[in-house]
Amino acid sequence: MTPRTADDHPMIRLEGLTKYYPGQKQAAVDGLTLDVPAGEIVIFVGPSGCGKTTTMKLINRLIEPTSGRIHLDGTDVTEVPVHLLRRRIGYTIQQGGLFPHRTVADNIATVPRMLGWDKRRIGERVDALLDLVGLDPQTYRKRYPRQLSGGQQQRVGVARALGGDPQVMLMDEPFGAIDPLNRDALQNEFLRIQAEVRKTIVFVTHDIDEAVKMGDRIAIFGDGGTVHQYDTPENILADPADPFVADFIGSGASVRRLSLTPVGGLALPEWPTVARGSDQAARAAAAAGTDRDHLLVLDDEGHPTGWIPLLGPERRPGEELPLLSRLGPDDSLFDALDLMLSANSSVLAVVDGDGRYRGVVDMDSLRTLINARAASDPQDSPRMQEA
Ligand SMILES: Nc1ncnc2c1ncn2[C@@H]1O[C@H](COP(=O)(O)OP(=O)(O)OP(=O)(O)O)[C@@H](O)[C@H]1O
Ligand SMILES: [Mg+2]
Repeated sequence: MTPRTADDHPMIRLEGLTKYYPGQKQAAVDGLTLDVPAGEIVIFVGPSGCGKTTTMKLINRLIEPTSGRIHLDGTDVTEVPVHLLRRRIGYTIQQGGLFPHRTVADNIATVPRMLGWDKRRIGERVDALLDLVGLDPQTYRKRYPRQLSGGQQQRVGVARALGGDPQVMLMDEPFGAIDPLNRDALQNEFLRIQAEVRKTIVFVTHDIDEAVKMGDRIAIFGDGGTVHQYDTPENILADPADPFVADFIGSGASVRRLSLTPVGGLALPEWPTVARGSDQAARAAAAAGTDRDHLLVLDDEGHPTGWIPLLGPERRPGEELPLLSRLGPDDSLFDALDLMLSANSSVLAVVDGDGRYRGVVDMDSLRTLINARAASDPQDSPRMQEA
């Protein structure tokens, strides 16, 4: 269930927010009006210098707006003492921003200590948060920031922002210094945590793929601190508001949209199956009933475990081979395409949350779906060719 604020107002409301830095002719943020609903992840994307960090700093009152209003949970932030505001908002700044002379543990303990927690509770919290961001507490607790890689510093920054269990998290490119493989794992981990804790999160990235993956909504910023479009990833990819947005999301929007469709929600084609340990006669009977080129093997509980090729013109069942990859219900059509290409396989078994067989995704069904989407998507229709 989505958490709600008391009378259903957005967790953060920006109204005509404008910021001119001293001595500048162009606004860094210009008339920004935008609501962030409670429990959602809102992503700010856009080119360098378009006012993303400035907006975060305004929300957190690190800087004051030239004009406009910011409401947090229904209250004007200028009416909340800054130190109380900071406890309710966790902030990870763009370049790590750890205290250099404090250990990792002390950095993470900053807000819990401000909140007056006892030592033991703080210690447990620090270790739990280090685990959460994938750093072994034993190894890293006592280190100093300079003894960490850039990506590790960013993880500690995320742990520190989560320290006091804030309602709101402002995260300025939290995964920017992390390599693509670890980044993907950390994104998944982050989404898993968010499904449980349901914080209200404003998250900055340069990476449109990260935005589409992580965001409940995306704000596309343009030069001069204006927002060109604020909507769900699905709507932005399907219907960019203007040429700037279309250009920013780039070509291949219909392929990106595949990443928004979990295979678990689709009506999937069936594949011929046989029970594990079935005899040659049963296999031959299954082969006779299909024009597919292999059979899927299911164990007693219905988990797919292997496959049997059907060989030669007489389609004789061959040796059973282990099934190396399968798709879970949360995997997307994009994951399916990716796995087909990397596993060099045109059919993938889909399992439910308990690992039981649900159906398959094959090249034909994928092609049909891509073309159906491309057809409703006039500005971006890279149709997949018939094989
Ligand atoms: N302290 C400051 N004094 C004067 N101008 C500033 C200051 N901080 C930022 N600016 C200017 O305000 C504009 C917006 O900067 P901001 O840091 O918000 O951009 P950004 O969208 O976060 O960029 P990036 O993606 O590179 O982090 C830029 O033109 C920048 O030069
Ligand atoms: Mg920035």
